[in-house]
Amino acid sequence: MKIYILAIETSCDDTSVALLSHDGEVLDVLSQSQDESHQKFGGIVPEIASRRHTENLLPLVDQLFKRHSMTSSMVSAVVVTARPGLVGSLLVGVMTAKALGLAWGVPVVGVNHIEGHILAPFLRSFDYAPAEGFDFPFVSLVVSGGHTHLFLAESYGQYRLLGRTRDDAAGEAFDKLAKMMGLPYPGGPSVDQQAQDGDFARYPFPRGLRDSDSLDFSFSGLKSAARRLVEAMEPKMVERECPHICASFQEAVVDVLLVRIAAAAERTKVRCVSLTGGVSANSRLRSKALALAQDKGLILALPPKKFCTDNAAMIGLAGLWRVLKGVQSDWNLSPCAQSWESDFVHSTKPPA
Ligand code: KG4
Ligand code: ZN
Repeated sequence: MKIYILAIETSCDDTSVALLSHDGEVLDVLSQSQDESHQKFGGIVPEIASRRHTENLLPLVDQLFKRHSMTSSMVSAVVVTARPGLVGSLLVGVMTAKALGLAWGVPVVGVNHIEGHILAPFLRSFDYAPAEGFDFPFVSLVVSGGHTHLFLAESYGQYRLLGRTRDDAAGEAFDKLAKMMGLPYPGGPSVDQQAQDGDFARYPFPRGLRDSDSLDFSFSGLKSAARRLVEAMEPKMVERECPHICASFQEAVVDVLLVRIAAAAERTKVRCVSLTGGVSANSRLRSKALALAQDKGLILALPPKKFCTDNAAMIGLAGLWRVLKGVQSDWNLSPCAQSWESDFVHSTKPPA
């Protein structure tokens, strides 16, 4: 009988469950988006998000088990996102994981959501295999609605934080631009879509911290510049210029992300780089990242969209190496809005 781990992700607004075998192969991942519930508010309402997780989570687990004729005796551990995220949302996942773990007599492993994004390039499923030659150590850019973090991933559990945003996350910047322009939520895909027909050089938006030596990011200046531009235009002009504003804004974000990846690869002298998180679904970012990798001779891991946006499969992988080492969480595991200091290595200097 094959043994699996069950993974649960509820840190933000997507409810997701997955089954992974002990060799890391994803048997299946089922996710339920809450976009419709939050659309009319133009952003995530935490109270609604946790309520939807409560309604959706156990039926999704049920559906996953039925699809694969699984029984609880085939599950060796439950892995769950315990931090960072919306506390009410995390609480639903953590409490459900503990209840299932206790009922089934298996360990529960709480993991950091960002570690899931970092490890996503190693996911394997019937339709995806890791990029050839891709391995530790690698430069990982995790870029989503909640995070813009640059790491040197040295091995499982060793993630050196090289840089992070000092203000907004890149996805948050896309979402805010979309809101100002009256585009549908979530903003990133809407801006990406509009930008297809736009001139990316029409508006020279600022590239935050461009001349800085640090590997940090800043998107607040870009957001303010876009706000000033849009507020100075008549509504008809905003409508006409929308594709160009979106394309120029997107170009500014993509440029700074790629400049930082290239600088990090050069400083750390690694050849493998990865791009994950919801924003890595951006079409311009993907095509320019591929061009950069070719130009600099880098091995680029760019997982498919289903493994880039929030999903339980990546959470499973962050727990699996711990399960295999016999590491498990205490039964008093609780959710935490922030990462723990110990989740990442904070010295930006790679070991000699
Ligand atoms: O990783 P994710 O699903 O959830 C978080 O952990 O935040 O990322 C969601 C973010 C949102 O800000 C969304 O607007 C952005 O990813 N996003 C995109 C695109 N698709 C999703 N941003 C730019 N272009 C896209 N195509
Ligand atoms: Zn995420």
